[in-house]
Amino acid sequence: MELKNKNIILGVSGCIAVHKSLDVASQLVKQGASVHVVMTSNATRMVLPMQFQVISRNPVLLDLYDSKDDWQPPHISLADLADLLVVAPATANIVGKIANGIADDALSTVAISVHCPILLAPAMNSHMYQNIFVEKNLQKLRENNIGLIEPASGLLACGHEGVGRLEEVGVILERIANVLVIKRDLVGKTVIVTAGPTREYIDPIRFITNRSSGRMGYAIAETAKARGANVILISGKTHLSPPVDVEFLQVETTTEMRKAILDNFDSADVVIMSAAVSDYRPSEYSSVKIKKVEQKMTISLSRNVDILSDLGDRKGPDQILVGFAAETTDILQNAQQKLVGKNLDLIIANDVSAEGAGFDVDTNIVSVLDSGGQCDQFPLMSKHDVADQILNRIVQLFQK
Ligand code: CTP
Repeated sequence: MELKNKNIILGVSGCIAVHKSLDVASQLVKQGASVHVVMTSNATRMVLPMQFQVISRNPVLLDLYDSKDDWQPPHISLADLADLLVVAPATANIVGKIANGIADDALSTVAISVHCPILLAPAMNSHMYQNIFVEKNLQKLRENNIGLIEPASGLLACGHEGVGRLEEVGVILERIANVLVIKRDLVGKTVIVTAGPTREYIDPIRFITNRSSGRMGYAIAETAKARGANVILISGKTHLSPPVDVEFLQVETTTEMRKAILDNFDSADVVIMSAAVSDYRPSEYSSVKIKKVEQKMTISLSRNVDILSDLGDRKGPDQILVGFAAETTDILQNAQQKLVGKNLDLIIANDVSAEGAGFDVDTNIVSVLDSGGQCDQFPLMSKHDVADQILNRIVQLFQK
């Protein structure tokens, strides 16, 4: 009964995969949750509201105007009691409405009324999923801390093969549990997380950077905060909003990032370097805009300090240092070398060229290596789930 006393609004929009949400509702009830289903009118053409009503043991909300007994509008009373809103399946239409604050039916109105976390599990034809406007809406949701249970790939109901299948019920339930069943095992610990790319300026308007979106680091910061840590997030420029209640330090260059870390290092129990730090910076900085004069131009680069190696040299006996190894070849060997060479306790190796891993995606495929020789290889999972796994390993190290 791990979800006892949890109030979950299950939003259901009209998609052929709606039968899976009957199963989601049933499993949530079995785990002790109080489930309140809100259906769009298209969803009611796929399954009967009565099915959800019997399974959830609660009335199903279809319309904002059919409440007779309650003085309060139903979307407000529901929104006020919710611990989580999960929309599964979420069609392109409901994704678009939630991303743009449109409230023209019961579900979209509930979505802008809740003050709890929101998880959406999109499901649609692969061309619709890859449509530029749908992509922009999904991106907007990610940037505003709305959790996405990314659809799986396979044979779709429309006969196409591709991405767009509603994730399996087990995966949806796991993501719900991750949001609601929070371990508070990092209370009293200070965790520094670095995220995003650094910028190395050539002149006032040009810089060298990389493709890091910052999502992995932000997911770690958010998860560590939820597990009770005091979190300092030191981030290069990204499009993401910092998680609530973390101390947020915005930096641009490697030098600024290093200074922000060193200013806080003594009070830190853990440092997780997920930032993509530039190894080089232009040897000379021009304080005025460089004009185009010659046909060819060469920029000379100088090595930056390796922040993590530097921290490895300074590390106290009770501090835990975690690095990332972004690799494209010999993943585990290269990660192992960095683990030893930088005096780390853990390193997270990822093949940034693999599909679903690396830059600008919400998922990652990682292996976690520790200094004692343990190596855990994980399948494709959301960056929030990867964050949880990394923090589980850190908690184990504290227990040793
Ligand atoms: N890192 C750092 N300072 C740098 C470069 C990297 O602190 N100047 C950190 C990264 O944040 C990451 C780890 O070191 O946690 C490994 O970074 P990565 O780019 O994978 O490898 P490098 O050590 O830079 O080696 P190479 O680029 O040769 O693979």
